[in-house]
Amino acid sequence: MARLLLVSNRLPVTVKAEKDSVSVVRSAGGLATGLSRPHERSGGLWIGWPGDVSRLTDAQRTQVEQQLSDLRCVPLYLSASEVSRFYEGYSNRVLWPLCHYMLDRVPRQDRDWDAYRKANERFADLAAKHYQPGDTIWVHDYQLMLVPGMLRKRLPQARIGYFHHIPFPSSEIFSTLPRRVELLEGLLGADLIGFHAVSYVRHFSGTLLRHLGLDTDIDRVLFQGREVRVGAFPMGIDAAAFESLAQEPAVLDEVKTLHGRAQGERLLVGIDRLDYTKGIPRRLLAVQRVLERDPSLRGRLRFIQVAVPSRTQVQAYAEYRETVDELVGRINGLYGTVHSTPVHYLYRSLNEKQLVSLYRGADVMLVTPVRDGMNLVAKEFCAARPDEDGVLVLSEFAGAAAEMRDALQVNPYDVEDMADAIEQALKMPQAERQERMRSLRAGVKSRDVHWWVSSFLDRLQGLPSQAEKPPLP
Ligand code: G6P
Repeated sequence: MARLLLVSNRLPVTVKAEKDSVSVVRSAGGLATGLSRPHERSGGLWIGWPGDVSRLTDAQRTQVEQQLSDLRCVPLYLSASEVSRFYEGYSNRVLWPLCHYMLDRVPRQDRDWDAYRKANERFADLAAKHYQPGDTIWVHDYQLMLVPGMLRKRLPQARIGYFHHIPFPSSEIFSTLPRRVELLEGLLGADLIGFHAVSYVRHFSGTLLRHLGLDTDIDRVLFQGREVRVGAFPMGIDAAAFESLAQEPAVLDEVKTLHGRAQGERLLVGIDRLDYTKGIPRRLLAVQRVLERDPSLRGRLRFIQVAVPSRTQVQAYAEYRETVDELVGRINGLYGTVHSTPVHYLYRSLNEKQLVSLYRGADVMLVTPVRDGMNLVAKEFCAARPDEDGVLVLSEFAGAAAEMRDALQVNPYDVEDMADAIEQALKMPQAERQERMRSLRAGVKSRDVHWWVSSFLDRLQGLPSQAEKPPLP
């Protein structure tokens, strides 16, 4: 197996600093889980940012470096200015909202482009420094869109893949970016460019035609004398791990406790990073509508919303938090009683067991982002339901909607539509719940994260290398 050189903004590990000790813990996220096996098997390296280490002592930093090196992770430390201008700035104030169709959130002037370009250069330099002939380089996500092109200049013969984990918007939207040409050319440095959904591939191809005059022939496009492939590779999860966790006695005990509070209580669950793409306010309003419409549900319906803190230094996230806080307070004020609270809102991250207990205990799982590249929560929920019960309410604007046809699909902008779907889910007969869940689970289990990794890598590694390719006319 060729050595794999992975490049992503964040490393798949988190540095945990306690009072007198520091450790490096592998993250639970999809990318970390899916790629850990090929990463280990190939004996390759993973290059990325280990997060904020500015408060560590020198000794702690040495310790962290040793542990990272044991995991074959190569840290790229971002300076405070890079964090604010490359990560929070161009990546998360410009590209993130734009790719999620939120043009009104993009700042009027993109002052951080040069910081984005320079940080991408640093990633490319470090990857090139560690590259050995024969390696496969796999670059991940919107923070590093220029890296494939920069690597191609440094390593013309290298085999380079890129995966875009967020939506690629329609060309109407992408075209508003002053730096659209540079970004497209950056991506085209790769041999294979992957997206979660066929619609994103179509948007990308349309944008290439519009701005670079390049015509995509099914899945290939010619750029500067090279053939670049594009394709849809919908990401999956480690379904087996979620399924086995969902059967652990501690999880089952927790599920009993969740349901044991009140006789006949129905449980709605939402789990998201606290991000304005996740549609939490309208989801809350839909829950409010359900309580308004059916007074018999008051005191019997509980909505647990977990919101994991994210990008807290970006103002839009702080404002969004206030909106959510306010709505939760309003609904609880309106429909709470001295015995019950309709919305249980947890602003923190939970460990995997706690999350799986919520998946396993939910009567209805609400996944209603206004836009989402894929959304793995929808898939985790199904994997965590070996009992073949529970109903998934899923936004039609999540990449996952293309695959998860047996979910109750909703328009996340339409509060009444979502309230209807919640009611339908609560009333759904068991046989229908089971039938839908069985089919959802079959998809989630067969197209899991290991399938995703191997379908991308097999495709990339099956392409003739730049060195083997005959010169193009
Ligand atoms: C999304 C992005 C990832 C990113 C993750 C967490 O899933 O596609 O690239 O790592 O959010 O965001 P953060 O800004 O904390 O890395």
